[in-house]
Amino acid sequence: MAYDGGRGGGRGRGGGRGGPGGGRGGGRGGGSFKRGGAPGGRGGGRGGGRGRGGPGGRGRGGRGGGRGGSKQVIVEPHRHGGVFLARGKEDALVTLNTTPGESVYGEKRISVDAAEGQKVEYRVWNPFRSKLAAAILGGVDSIHMGPGSKVLYLGAASGTTVSHVADLVGKDGLVYAVEFSHRSGRDLINMAKKRTNVIPIIEDARHPHKYRMLVPMVDCIFADVAQPDQTRIVALNAHNFLKNQGHFVISIKASCIDSTAPAEAVFAAEVQKMKAEKMKPLEQLTLEPYERDHAVVIGTYRPPSKNKK
Ligand SMILES: C[S@@+](CC[C@H](N)C(=O)[O-])C[C@H]1O[C@@H](n2cnc3c(N)ncnc32)[C@H](O)[C@@H]1O
Repeated sequence: MAYDGGRGGGRGRGGGRGGPGGGRGGGRGGGSFKRGGAPGGRGGGRGGGRGRGGPGGRGRGGRGGGRGGSKQVIVEPHRHGGVFLARGKEDALVTLNTTPGESVYGEKRISVDAAEGQKVEYRVWNPFRSKLAAAILGGVDSIHMGPGSKVLYLGAASGTTVSHVADLVGKDGLVYAVEFSHRSGRDLINMAKKRTNVIPIIEDARHPHKYRMLVPMVDCIFADVAQPDQTRIVALNAHNFLKNQGHFVISIKASCIDSTAPAEAVFAAEVQKMKAEKMKPLEQLTLEPYERDHAVVIGTYRPPSKNKK
């Protein structure tokens, strides 16, 4: 796919991106998300449920008792491997909970009947609390981290999004989660005690040599450090740990880089910096309505040269 220079979250090309049910087309899905995130949070259920998705025949799914009650919810695989949609009165993005019975940050859980009388549990993934969830609902083409993949996550904070990435890479995948704040790092470490596919690393992502003994070559780097030199930080980590033709997913908060320039100019300047580091952008989208003046840029590291057959 050619890099299209950016698009707005949800506006999409050629008409609205699909509702949760599948394919392109169709409007936004209904949503159950609140800015506050956890049950009882502020705000009133804006958004949610956007994005292409739909039954892809992958993974699990099923019918179940609804969030917090008896209402029936059907869970369908999303277009992105390891991600699911819970379709009930309001649709919600969910991941399969690798530690059933436990929430990480107060998010709702949905229990669903599976084969042979078993139950599986999903956790609701709130796009107001996770830029990756916002990008998925915005209709991003690929997140480049599916079941079994190794992800280096920069800017893990207390592990809210990390926990969903851990769900979606599953037991055969690994998430190396870097966070330099010791305060957030405590929560991250506690979360990782129960999610054994998360390796918490309490270090500054500007110094990848400090954790080189912990991190192998990875399939994808996700970055959400919200720092003015974020692209340089990602490049440093890519040069150390990202496979050739691996992918990066970078969340950019314009005001963290330049609070005086228009957001679009900031995004364009960051894209230029990526190109100078052998990071080829493939797609860009803004995160409205979940975040203002944020974009996600996704691309390939050291793509094959065009001349090579
Ligand atoms: C926007 S928050 C991340 C939120 C998180 N990704 C989520 O979705 O839950 C940015 C985080 O990056 C961390 N951070 C900023 N600069 C960093 C650096 N150089 N190395 C490691 N962590 C950094 C901050 O401490 C903060 O926790």
